[in-house]
Amino acid sequence: MRGVHGEFPAARPRRLRGTPALRRLVAEHRVAPADLILPAFVREGASEPTPIASMPGVVQHSLESLRRAAAEAVEAGVGGIMLFGVPEDAKKDAVGSAGTDPRGILQVALREVRAEVGDDLVVMSDLCLDEFTDHGHCGVLDAAGRVDNDATLDRYAEMARAQAEAGAHVLGPSGMMDGQVGYVRAALDEAGHQDVALFAYTAKYSSAFFGPFREAVASSLSGDRKTYQQDPANGREALRELALDLAEGADMVMVKPGMPYLDVLREVAEVAEVPVGAYQVSGEYAMVEAAAEKGVIDREAAILETLTGFKRAGASMILTYWATEAARRL
Ligand code: PBG
Repeated sequence: MRGVHGEFPAARPRRLRGTPALRRLVAEHRVAPADLILPAFVREGASEPTPIASMPGVVQHSLESLRRAAAEAVEAGVGGIMLFGVPEDAKKDAVGSAGTDPRGILQVALREVRAEVGDDLVVMSDLCLDEFTDHGHCGVLDAAGRVDNDATLDRYAEMARAQAEAGAHVLGPSGMMDGQVGYVRAALDEAGHQDVALFAYTAKYSSAFFGPFREAVASSLSGDRKTYQQDPANGREALRELALDLAEGADMVMVKPGMPYLDVLREVAEVAEVPVGAYQVSGEYAMVEAAAEKGVIDREAAILETLTGFKRAGASMILTYWATEAARRL
């Protein structure tokens, strides 16, 4: 480029990078504590939190430590919490009965967390059977051992009612069954739970980055979820899933995992008429922690950079296991 006085550039973007104050002033995107949602695991019968080896710093909570974590999240200004239940092994069965039992661990945890935080934190629950089935799939199986879409919808409807009764503000249907959002919406409305919102896992990919989660929830899965979760090769399909979820009444939508799917997040955010979230999953967490542990990455800077990336790609909400820590630092 030629400037008016000769060879040197007239346009100098570096002018706006000269001081921290200037950089702060011109920043296009900011992560706020209220954008963050903390996914949390609670284990039935646990009296102490149990560390998850593949996710250093994350635990399977006892009810008591979960209450504490929820209170700390409120204090840090975190926007929400997403609960996952880990039942006792003996309570798992083919249809995931513990997932719909009012005394099941997830329902108990929802009541306790609501008692702790009231309306100060948006309390969400994972609406899926995989933690509760003895085969580890997200739905019930037919005679041939395949995940039966429509039979699963009935289980989700029952689970949704149980979670709403237990006090969840928002339910996150994550099983990727066709029609799940509409089916669950109708079941909630019929039961008088019109105010309980649905945060649909709209684009959920069959991902290697869920690896550590399987340890976190002591999953019984031996195969994979490729017949119901999306193929990582497909982007356009996410827009089809989005159109269906919106037509079925999704109040918020999510793309998951996060970092390998920023393009999908961007496309969804461009057209969705509802708030959009990104789920930074267990493997993304483990990857950054492992690199930091090896001393090859600046942990805190890397965490903030990943969160900022989600905002830049169009997310207004981010599910991240660093939620409370990051909120304290912001
Ligand atoms: C399904 C569910 C999964 C995750 C959240 N909800 C696992 C899966 O689909 O196998 C993964 C979350 C993570 O990896 O952090 N209930």
